[in-house]
Amino acid sequence: MNVEHFANVVENLPPEQALDAVLAAGESTRVCLTSSFQAEDMAVLHMLRKRIPDVPVLFLDTGYHFPQTYEYRDRMTKLWSLRLLNVLPSRTVPEQESAFGILYQTDPTRCCQLRKVEPLLGALEPFDVWFTGLRREQSPTRKNLKKVELHRLPTGKQLWKVSLLADWKWEQVWDYTNANGISHLPQYDEGYLSIGCQPCTALPVDPNNPRSGRWGGTKLECGIHTFSKRAEA
Ligand code: ADX
Ligand code: SF4
Repeated sequence: MNVEHFANVVENLPPEQALDAVLAAGESTRVCLTSSFQAEDMAVLHMLRKRIPDVPVLFLDTGYHFPQTYEYRDRMTKLWSLRLLNVLPSRTVPEQESAFGILYQTDPTRCCQLRKVEPLLGALEPFDVWFTGLRREQSPTRKNLKKVELHRLPTGKQLWKVSLLADWKWEQVWDYTNANGISHLPQYDEGYLSIGCQPCTALPVDPNNPRSGRWGGTKLECGIHTFSKRAEA
């Protein structure tokens, strides 16, 4: 298959048609979604589970999420009978804090590496297609994102990274979830627009930049979307 041609064709399709094209391209592919249970992830999951009811949902459980996130994860897992894969780091929070101190204060890049990037690396290994809720609008670091990208992990493994909502605006995400009766993480009602680990998530300081509350504005990416590289065909 010509990867570039396929990616260009899918780029112009709306999310559900793009999804069908991706699934049709690899009949026996092993598919997963990474989800932090934000609205984007719930929209993608809603589309995916209509086609693959037991699609694996990978949650990177850093141990530092909001209590509301854990509660919502568990509520939706039960409601939708999700096949949740709760991905844990090698050290518990107390083990990490006694070994290295409070890394989210002193070295958040290392903290994200240990609690998100390394666990994800192992968790993705069995899959051929990795769905995300990424959107171009979210960050300058995401402005070149394509709906379908072929990625190479540091291990050498290649897989498709698919972001069905790449060209959606926030309003479209919100409208889709509301139109489909999907409840939201309760933090949205408090004004949060981008929700990750509790110590590194604040209310946005710039209303035009939803991610301006993440990492106090000092860091744009945790690393899970930069550790794999776009591969050539
Ligand atoms: S992050 O890299 O800054 O945390 P963001 O919160 O914008 O990312 O979410 C973008 C996408 O990254 C989500 O749609 C999801 O696919 C993935 N993601 C982020 N955090 C997690 C997590 N804790 N568990 C699983 N997937 C996650
Ligand atoms: Fe650690 Fe913060 Fe990264 Fe979560 S977002 S893994 S708490 S540095």
